[in-house]
Amino acid sequence: MTPERILLTAALPYANGSLHLGHMVEYCQADMYARALNRLGQKTIYICANDAHGTPIELNARKAGLAPEAMVAAVHAEHRRDFERFDVAFDHFSSTHSDANREVVRAVYESLRAKGHLEDREVDGTWCDRDQRFLPDRFVKGICPRCGAADQYGDVCEACKATYSPTDLKEPRCALCGEPPVIKKSTHVFFKLSAPDNVAFLRRFIDSGALQDDVANYVRGWIEGGLKDWCISRDGPYFGFPIADRPNKFFYVWMDAPLGYVASSVEWGREHALGFEDLWRSPATRIEHLIGKDIVYFHTLFWPAVLNAVGYTLPSRVHVHGMLTVNGEKMSKTRGTFINAATFAAHLDPQALRYYYASKYGAESNDLDLAMDDLIFKVNGELVNKHANLFSRVSQFLSQKLDNRLGDLPFAAALTLAEPTGDGTMLDLARRVTRACRRMEDFYRGRELSQVVRELGVVADIGNEFMQTAKPWDQLKTDPEAARLTCTFVANVCEALAMYLWPIIPRFATAGARILGRPIDRMDRTALFGLRNRPLGTFERLFDRIDKKTTDKMIEASKDSLGSPKAAPGCAPAVAAAAAVPIGAPHEVAPATAVVAAPKAEIEIDQFRTLDLRVGKIAKAEALPKSKKLLRLEIDLGEPTLRQVVAGIAHVYAPDALVGTRVIVVANLKPAKLFGVTSHGMVLAANSGAKLCLLRPEHELPPGTPVS
Ligand code: MSP
Ligand code: ZN
Repeated sequence: MTPERILLTAALPYANGSLHLGHMVEYCQADMYARALNRLGQKTIYICANDAHGTPIELNARKAGLAPEAMVAAVHAEHRRDFERFDVAFDHFSSTHSDANREVVRAVYESLRAKGHLEDREVDGTWCDRDQRFLPDRFVKGICPRCGAADQYGDVCEACKATYSPTDLKEPRCALCGEPPVIKKSTHVFFKLSAPDNVAFLRRFIDSGALQDDVANYVRGWIEGGLKDWCISRDGPYFGFPIADRPNKFFYVWMDAPLGYVASSVEWGREHALGFEDLWRSPATRIEHLIGKDIVYFHTLFWPAVLNAVGYTLPSRVHVHGMLTVNGEKMSKTRGTFINAATFAAHLDPQALRYYYASKYGAESNDLDLAMDDLIFKVNGELVNKHANLFSRVSQFLSQKLDNRLGDLPFAAALTLAEPTGDGTMLDLARRVTRACRRMEDFYRGRELSQVVRELGVVADIGNEFMQTAKPWDQLKTDPEAARLTCTFVANVCEALAMYLWPIIPRFATAGARILGRPIDRMDRTALFGLRNRPLGTFERLFDRIDKKTTDKMIEASKDSLGSPKAAPGCAPAVAAAAAVPIGAPHEVAPATAVVAAPKAEIEIDQFRTLDLRVGKIAKAEALPKSKKLLRLEIDLGEPTLRQVVAGIAHVYAPDALVGTRVIVVANLKPAKLFGVTSHGMVLAANSGAKLCLLRPEHELPPGTPVS
C-alpha cells in the first residue's frame, strides 16, 4: 500500500564540527532517494536537524569561548551552506535545541512516566573533583582491564574490543584534567528496556522487515545477549533539556536527538497544514530512517522501544549504510584524506562526489571506499565522456548544421513501452531505453543507486553508439533530414538521461533539460520519446573533467599539519569519524579536545615554519555586543595599521586589563568573520578545558617580533 507521504530522515549531524565526506555518504544518499521518490509520484519529505546537545558540544563551546547556543548557531549556518553546495535539499533542517523539541521531549517523558516505563535508580558515577563534574564514559581514560592496553576509553578497549564500565579501568584518569576520578553516587532515570513487554516487542520489530537482513541478525544477537535498561538522564553541567521534576538532571542527548526527527517534522507540518497526529500517529505517513552503522543500537532498540511505549508510528525502514574509507583507509588528517565537505566544494563540483557515491551505493550496509583515481576515472570516463558528451554532440550539431530544430521520429511514443525485438531498429533501441528506465525506477525505489548508474550507462551507450553508426555528419551531405532524424532520436535519449540523472546530479540534469529546450519535473518513462518538431535550447557546458592535480591539491589542503580546525572560526574540529567500524553498540562521543589526548602526528619542521607567529601588542580591546565570550582586539604587529582579531577570552579577561599587553599572534591566518566582525589572526592561549590563559612573552619585545 502506498502511503500518502513518506517521512524520510537522515541522522542528525552533531553541531560541534564541520561536515566531512563521510557525512555526505548519508546526506547525499537520502537526498537522491527522496528526490527519486518525489519524481516517481511518491510524496516524500526529507527531514533533518542538527544534534545540538551533549557533553562534547558543551566542552568544545567552552573551549572556543562561546556559549553552546552560539556555537550551535554558527555550526548550523555552516552545515546549511555545505548542504546547499552538495544539493542536499532537506524539506526542513531544524535543531534539537528547539522549542518544538523541548515540547516533544517533555510530552514523551511524561507519557513514559505515566505508563510505568521509567524508574529512578541510584548508580555509581565517575566524578572528577577538580572539574567538579561527572565524567561520561569517553571522558575517562586508563588501562584496559582485560588486555592491559594503555590510554583506553572508559567503555571499550580499542585494542581488544572488550567492553566494560569506566570503574573497571586500571589507573583511570579524567580526560579533561588528568586527575584520577572518584566514584560518586547519583540518582538517574532509567527506561526499562529489558522489561519483558519491551523485549517481546523488539523481537517482533526486528522481524518486521524494517531492517536489512545482516543488520537484523546483528540486532537479534544483541537481544539474545540480554538488553540492559537505558539511562536517559545526565547530571549537570550538561548542555541539554533539564528534566522538570529532577533538579540538576538533564535528558541524555540520545534521548532528545531522535525525538528531533519528530520535532523537526512537526515544525515542517506547521507550514503545510499537517499536525503531529497526521505525521506520527496516522497510517497516512510512513517513517523511514537512513543511518550509518555506528548508530544502529540507538535506532533499532532504544528508539523503536520508546516510540512503541508512547504509541507513535514505528519506522517502516531503518536503512543502514556503511562507513566511508578514502583510498582504502580510514580517513586520516595526516594523510589529508579527512576531507571536509567545504574543502571538496572549494576544489571540485560536489556533483562529482554525488555521482561517484551513487555509483558505489548498494542496498547493503557495506563500507564504501572513495578512491581518488577511481573518482577521476568515473567522472571523466562516464559523466563527461558519455553523458555530457552526448548532449554536447547533438546540441552542437543541430545548432551548427540544422537550424537547431528537431524533426519527427518514425514511431509513436507509446510504442516504445513494448518489449524490444532485438532487430536494432530505432524503435527497438527506443524500447531498450524505456526498459532500462523501468528498471531504474525500481532500483531507485529499492535504493540500488549503483544499479541506476549502471543503467544510465546503458542508455548513454545506446545514444552514443547510434550517433556513431548513423554518422549524421555524413548523412548531412546527401540527406539533411536523415541527419535531423538521427539527432532527434539521440536528443530523446538525452532527455531520458536528464530525467533519470536528476535525483543524483540535479544541476547537471536541469541544465541538460535546458539544452534540450524543455523542463522535466517528473520521472516517467511513458513521457519519453515525445521530444519532436521543436527547437532545442542553447548549448551550455555540463561538466568539467577532473584533473589529478586538483584532487592532489584538495588532499594537500586537507592535511592538518597544525592540528588546527579548518572549520568555522572559533569552532573545535569535528569529532573524529569512525571509519570501517563494525555495527556499533552504544557509546558516548569522545572528547574532541582532551588535554591528555593522544599526541598528534609528527610534522616536519617546514610544516611548522608555515606558521607566521609574531609578538603583538594589544592596542584596544572591547566586548562584542552579541557575544558573552568574544572580545574584539586591535593589535599592533608592527604593521602600518592595527590588526583586528576576535578572541574567545571575554569570560576570562576584562577588556581594560588587556590594553598594553603583549601576546603571541598567528599572523598569517586567513581572515574570517565571527559574529559579523572580521578577525585577521589568532591570539594564542593555553586551555585545559576548565582554565584558559593567554601566552605572553616574558619581555617587552617590539610588536612584530617573529616567534619560532
Ligand atoms: N548525532 C548523531 C546522530 C543522531 S540521530 C538521532 C551522530 N552524528 S554524526 O554527525 O556523528 O553522524 C551523522 C551521520 O553521519 C551518522 O549516520 C553517521 O553514521 C554518518 N557518518 C559519520 N561519519 C561517517 C563516515 N565516515 N562514513 C559514513 N557515514 C558517516 O551520529
Ligand atoms: Zn578532571
